[in-house]
Amino acid sequence: MAQNIKHITHPIVLALILAIFSYSSQAHDHRQLKETNLTLYIHEFSGGPNATAAIVTGIPGKVWSYPSFGTIFLIDDPITTGLDMNSPEIARGQGIYVTSSLDGGKAHATVSVVFSDKKYNGSTLEIQGNSVQSSKIAEYAVVGGTGKFRFATGFVTLEVLFYDPTTFYSVSRCNFIVLHH
Ligand SMILES: *[C@@H]1O[C@H](CO)[C@@H](O)[C@H](O)[C@H]1NC(C)=O
Ligand SMILES: *[C@@H]1O[C@H](CO)[C@@H](O)[C@H](O)[C@H]1NC(C)=O
Ligand SMILES: *[C@@H]1O[C@H](CO)[C@@H](O)[C@H](O)[C@H]1NC(C)=O
Repeated sequence: MAQNIKHITHPIVLALILAIFSYSSQAHDHRQLKETNLTLYIHEFSGGPNATAAIVTGIPGKVWSYPSFGTIFLIDDPITTGLDMNSPEIARGQGIYVTSSLDGGKAHATVSVVFSDKKYNGSTLEIQGNSVQSSKIAEYAVVGGTGKFRFATGFVTLEVLFYDPTTFYSVSRCNFIVLHH
């Protein structure tokens, strides 16, 4: 009889030990979040033959433009490690901007930063948030990521450094602070 009980309790004890182990390793993982800071530069051509940003639609019968509610833009902007347009491309910023306030003053952005460099190749950071169209600096949430940036949370500030209205070229500095696995 005692032998039998021993045989029954043994797997239960084992299961308990495993449960405690997996709980503590999960707790451990949360403490092991890495912090990555990245300073990158995003280049955008909002017009011309090689535009990297374009209006795809807006409200029928209304003007489609930056300050018009409901205007939707798609972007596929190169992101480099240096300020210079010809410095190494590390990622593309691909996603959607929508003029999201009725007065046209604010925009909503949902953008994937798709990395292609050696270190982060194939990983992404997901940006989402709201910005004031006229402000020089915008802050967005980093709401997730994939690959090397799984479970990412954090934020990014985007500061417009240069805009040339004749060529529609702009460059902005992006400062990312991200916690991830
Ligand atoms: C990232 O930047 C923040 C704020 O400037 C700083 O507190 C932190 O130490 C930096 N982390 C790393 C890993 O450089
Ligand atoms: C557009 O891109 C093509 C191909 O890379 C290039 O030859 C051309 O000079 C570019 N045009 C402008 C205005 O930048
Ligand atoms: C990134 O990954 C793709 C697909 O696996 C591969 O073709 C490419 O050479 C890689 N680039 C770098 C810089 O490692």
